[in-house]
Amino acid sequence: MTNLSDPKTSSESAVEMRNLVMPNHTNPQNSIFGGVVMSWIDMAAAMVAERHSNRPVVTVHVDDISFKAPIKIGDHVLIKASLNFVGKTSMLVGVKVYAENPFTGITRHTTTAYLAFVALDDIGRPIQVRGVIPVSEDEIRRFAEGKARIEEMRKKNNKKNT
Ligand SMILES: CC(C)(COP(=O)(O)OP(=O)(O)OC[C@H]1O[C@@H](n2cnc3c(N)ncnc32)[C@H](O)[C@@H]1OP(=O)(O)O)[C@@H](O)C(=O)NCCC(=O)NCCS
Repeated sequence: MTNLSDPKTSSESAVEMRNLVMPNHTNPQNSIFGGVVMSWIDMAAAMVAERHSNRPVVTVHVDDISFKAPIKIGDHVLIKASLNFVGKTSMLVGVKVYAENPFTGITRHTTTAYLAFVALDDIGRPIQVRGVIPVSEDEIRRFAEGKARIEEMRKKNNKKNT
């Protein structure tokens, strides 16, 4: 059993998920529904937050998602999710989505998203999570940007509720 206060590196909790786009995922243009991609993003990101905190987590905010290119039936969807930043009880996960045509091997980056999660204790209250150690250049940059990004999410949410 790991000690819940020992920090972890970002790569220790990173998740890569692959899905094949089937007819039930698509619209009449044979492109994937945005909501299907969003649910895969949420699932991959939640797994990162759970692997990092070793606690149940809930999504508190999903930053604006835009789709830069269509994902077609038969494409392989690769979702890469990793921990960018940790607050006290909150975690910011960055997600990149790629569509790969398995016959040509051509891969396109279609979406980037940021999601905030909160770890919960046994009665559903926010609980402090371990720190994260960014190691690579990218991880260090994402960590530095993460604090401002999660504060921005919090502000957006507060504005909506006032
Ligand atoms: C998660 C939940 C228990 C947090 O309760 P809360 O009273 O907001 O708790 P706090 O105000 O102490 O916030 C907890 C942390 O989340 C952060 N947070 C809250 N809302 C946020 C938002 N919109 N964006 C980013 N961070 C946010 C806070 O800043 C705090 O971070 P820190 O501990 O790292 O400093 C509560 O908001 C909840 O149950 N939400 C519903 C979650 C859910 O059901 N999600 C599924 C999708 S519907």
